[in-house]
Amino acid sequence: MPADLSPTTVARPATELAVRASGVVKAFGVGDARTVALKGADFSARQGELHLVVGPSGCGKTTLLSVVAGTLDWDEGRVDVFGTSLDGLKRSAITDFRRRNVGFIFQQFNLIPTLNLTENVSVPLLLNGRGRKVAESKAQELLKRVGLGGKETKRPTQLSGGQQQRVAIARALVHEPRLVICDEPTSALDSETGHQIMDLLATAARAPGRCVVIVTHDPRIYGYADRITQMEDGRVRAVLEGEPLQRFVQSTH
Ligand SMILES: Nc1ncnc2c1ncn2[C@@H]1O[C@H](COP(=O)(O)OP(=O)(O)OP(=O)(O)O)[C@@H](O)[C@H]1O
Ligand SMILES: [Mg+2]
Repeated sequence: MPADLSPTTVARPATELAVRASGVVKAFGVGDARTVALKGADFSARQGELHLVVGPSGCGKTTLLSVVAGTLDWDEGRVDVFGTSLDGLKRSAITDFRRRNVGFIFQQFNLIPTLNLTENVSVPLLLNGRGRKVAESKAQELLKRVGLGGKETKRPTQLSGGQQQRVAIARALVHEPRLVICDEPTSALDSETGHQIMDLLATAARAPGRCVVIVTHDPRIYGYADRITQMEDGRVRAVLEGEPLQRFVQSTH
């Protein structure tokens, strides 16, 4: 079983690492169809940080974050999240760890079509053993915060792409996970809604002992980053902060 990582039992300074992945290798397929998506990627994100991951399509961003989130097995390398090494854990223990500590917004929103919005957003709380009433009331609060109050009983198929994306964001935040991982959270959103969502994610990121990592192609949100990791061809090419980060953000406007 993984160690208990609830915030009450782990008190760490805000500068400590939330994620440390080193030398991560991941290949898909075999023979002629083999693609090496990660070729020894080194990645870290700090507690209290909003961290962006950028890079060309196909460079391995989703693959890296799926490994860190515990949704994908990897071939080589070490992955450590909030001081717990995922390397030695069985799949079932990783799943348990993920349920308690990680919120994941997928590139495809992965909403459950047969459930209404409140039920979709309640899922992480129910999986963590919370009662249905509490879960639904918290889900409704989150739906309001992402601007979907009044739509609680709709189903995902009755919503626009941007609205579905906001449901996915509410679902990723509802159980207040210590690590939130988002794959393109603003791709389907207009500017104003995108900024509202980024404000919500930045607040979650900067709470003590928490961290938000976002994969994005959207230069409109680069200004929110505390640090930016640039990936290229299965590896991390650079990590930007301070002056170089400011220059990068300005160069994309
Ligand atoms: N399930 C899979 N099976 C086979 N190949 C895969 C799979 N997932 C990813 N790949 C390959 O691994 C490489 C990295 O893919 P990944 O999805 O991580 O890229 P990405 O940086 O997220 O791209 P994008 O910006 O387009 O989302 C690509 O060459 C992709 O084709
Ligand atoms: Mg991707």
